[in-house]
Amino acid sequence: MYLQRRNRILRATPAIRSMVAESSLTPNDFIAPLFIDEGTNVAYEIPSMSNYFRYSIDLTIKEVKLLWSLGIKSVLLFVKAKDETKDNTGKEAWNPDGLMQRTIKAIKDAVPEMLIMTDVALDPYSIYGHDGIVKDGEIVNDETVEALVKMSLSHAQAGADFVAPSDMMDGRIGAIREALEHENFTKVGIMSYSAKYASCFYGPFRDALDSAPGFGDKKTYQMDYANRKEAIKETLMDVEEGADIVMVKPAMAYLDIIREIKNAVDVPVSAYHVSGEYAMIKAAAKMGWLNEEKAIIESLTSIKRAGADLIATYFAKQAVQLIS
Ligand code: PBG
Repeated sequence: MYLQRRNRILRATPAIRSMVAESSLTPNDFIAPLFIDEGTNVAYEIPSMSNYFRYSIDLTIKEVKLLWSLGIKSVLLFVKAKDETKDNTGKEAWNPDGLMQRTIKAIKDAVPEMLIMTDVALDPYSIYGHDGIVKDGEIVNDETVEALVKMSLSHAQAGADFVAPSDMMDGRIGAIREALEHENFTKVGIMSYSAKYASCFYGPFRDALDSAPGFGDKKTYQMDYANRKEAIKETLMDVEEGADIVMVKPAMAYLDIIREIKNAVDVPVSAYHVSGEYAMIKAAAKMGWLNEEKAIIESLTSIKRAGADLIATYFAKQAVQLIS
């Protein structure tokens, strides 16, 4: 048989495969999400997220030191607010002595170079578990944006490097950027959850923070997963309003969207490999139905290949250990 081209030549050995690989993972790709709790020496394993913990500040510091030593450059913080601090305004979110603010300061003290990104949305602080303020059964946009601005400024004041609004209210990126400028926080970045879909894959996360919506769902603010063009529109608007990094969320069921966004914008694109995506791999591996390590690396590489420059994933630590 005579063949002009033999594609298998470039697949023949690990050496040639690694030389021609178009995508690869490095510690610089990852953002490690962390769940924070009050107290000391608290390590609560999230029931639906096997081997993932909510830590008190002291143990969080230990974890951040470990992550930094492994080469991970960024953490994304989420706090579990106490029930008695919750209301409909979300005002605990900008309490200068709140759990988030104390955590930011503690991490900055312990590992100053670690980039701190903070979740900006009202759900952990809302008695309704919604990302915004509720009036007559609706999540009101403009008042919520005012609250998110206060929350962002408070994170900046505590020392956050990036605020990461995950709420999907209209106009919040522009409002936050303007407020940061106005208050002279000119070095604080915005990583916008620009194309965040209303997804069932956030289920385990809501377990982690006890933040499931008390009524209804999030479909009036998070995007409909049937839509593609809307993701581009949302993301272009966020860039226009001043987002430094944009995000697609979830990741694996939205690889097409990651690629679209990558082609459409000239800012870095991140993808959030969310709690349910973590849980699926962990559960299948536990059953002996999937090889966990291979599933992790294949999943994360596919997100990279789709176009993500950065990946927020609960597998960050494990992945870095696997690739080193
Ligand atoms: C809160 C927020 C959510 C996630 C990140 N920020 C949950 C939600 O929107 O209900 C999900 C993260 C995950 O599932 O890993 N606004």
